[in-house]
Formats: sequence, C-alpha cells, structure tokens
Amino acid sequence: MKKIKKAVVTAAGLGTRFLPITKVVPKPMLPVLDKPTIQYILEELDAVDINDVAIVVSPRTDIVKKHFSPAPELEKRLLEDGKEKLYKLATEMNRFNITFIEQKVPNGLAGAMLCAEEFVGDEPFLLLLGDELLYAEKGEKPCLRSLLETYEKTGKTTLSALSVFGDDVSKYGNMGVESEKDGVINVNRIVEKPPLTDALSNYAIIGRYAIGGEVLGILKTLKPRNNEIFLTDAFDILAGKGELVATEFEGKRFDVGDKAGYVKANVEFALKSEETREEIKEYIKAIAEKL
Ligand code: G1P
Repeated sequence: MKKIKKAVVTAAGLGTRFLPITKVVPKPMLPVLDKPTIQYILEELDAVDINDVAIVVSPRTDIVKKHFSPAPELEKRLLEDGKEKLYKLATEMNRFNITFIEQKVPNGLAGAMLCAEEFVGDEPFLLLLGDELLYAEKGEKPCLRSLLETYEKTGKTTLSALSVFGDDVSKYGNMGVESEKDGVINVNRIVEKPPLTDALSNYAIIGRYAIGGEVLGILKTLKPRNNEIFLTDAFDILAGKGELVATEFEGKRFDVGDKAGYVKANVEFALKSEETREEIKEYIKAIAEKL
C-alpha cells in the first residue's frame, strides 16, 4: 500500500457569504486572530510532516500566493532592526512546498479535486477543506493523525466522523454504519445532507479526508446532478463495496465559512493565545453579565 505524502487544500470558494470583504480579500486570507485561515490549515499538515501541498484557488488569488512567498525587503529590514521574533513570524510560511492550482469554473468540491489530478497522480492524499479550522486539546488526537493511522491500518479511503444532533444532521454528508471496532467505523452508505428523518446515523462527514488512489477515477465516471459532480456519490459507491471507513473526530471544529463560526474561532484562538487570553477572558465575563 502506498503511503500518504501529499495533501490538497480546497480554497476556491467565492466567499459570497462574506461580502463585502471578499470583494478584495479572498476568503482563505481572512484572519483568525493574527493569521489567515489558510495558514492554520498548512500548520495542521506540518504537524503530520506533510509539506507537499496543492492549494486549489480561484482566479483572484495573488494575495494568497504572496502570503506564502518570501518578502526579501521586509525580511531584510526586520533582521537589520534586530527584530528576530517578528522575522520568524514573517518567514515561517516559507518552509512549505506549495503548488497553486486554479479552479477556473466554480463546480464544487469534486471539481476542485479533479483540478488537482496531475499533482496527486495515482497516489493517495489528504484532502482538507479550507473553510474549516480544527483544534485538538491536550490529550486529544489531531484529526489528520487519526486519518493517517486509520488509512495505514485499513488501506481504505477514510472519513472523519463528527457526532451531530437535531437540525445539524442535515448540514453535512451523513454515514451509514455497518460496524465499529477498535476505532474504525465501517461505512456502508453515504447520503449528502439528508432531512433528519432520512439520516442513517449521527455521524457527519467533516472536511478532512484520506483519499485512496481510486477515488479520482470514480469521480470521472459520475454524472453531474444540478451541474455538479458530488464527492459523496463517489464515497457512496466505495461504501457499497465495503471500501470506505471512518474514524471519530476528537477536538473542536469551526466552520469559518460561516459568520458565527468565524467569530467563534476568533474568540477561541484569542483565548488560547498568551498575548490576548487574560484581556479577552475579562471582556467576555464582563459582557456576559449583561447579555
Ligand atoms: C461538504 C461536503 C459534505 C461535508 C461538508 C463538511 O459540504 O459535501 O459532505 O459534510 O463539506 O463541511 P459543503 O459544506 O461544502 O456544502
């Protein structure tokens, strides 16, 4: 079985839910505390030693590329001024080996993956959706670590499963569970965003995947529905053949493509940063009394 050594990050969404800021600033560049969201995603990959990454972007992307490129004048100036800490912050993104791929037609997640075909070849890879941020507390296993371990153990395309309840069930792809053993969930069906009454289980699919080499081939055989090919349709085919597994997600997840989720992520990361923790904690306590 081939090991996973590459990752594809999708960041081509038009960000219409965030207009007017996304008119000029692409969604992956919106900051959570002091970093653009896309940088947190690359740090997640760095933590599992995957630095060979393709980011699928939309045509207006120069600023994303710029963020991950050296800035010689700024770097020189910071060094000359002896500002080593700032120099480190300004250069820490230079270590990634990033390929930028343009998704010219906004035809969804499967379309974005097909754009990355040349980059991945027939190798398995990690797929990360750019508008979700994850955080593992101490003692929790980071999502990508679980995905890689489960993929290596089973050799099967692996999803990350989040337990959801009530109306939230219809916001996600949903998994039918055949059996569950030693942390591996054997998935027998997938439905995309079902009404609550048709849900197969409480397991939702989140935006981190270990994709086996066969998936792109399956995508190419699928017929579009509403002008879009659905990745979940390819997963359903694999599930029907007993070739799809999942691992339960531990940790916190923020949907930063959504305004409330974006604000929650900012609050959470501000509470984790030594620089801002105390001040923000006091502020939240003070306003909470009046809510
Ligand atoms: C996509 C997938 C869905 C998954 C979700 C996770 O949906 O199609 O199966 O549950 O991401 O965020 P989207 O949020 O792009 O509509």
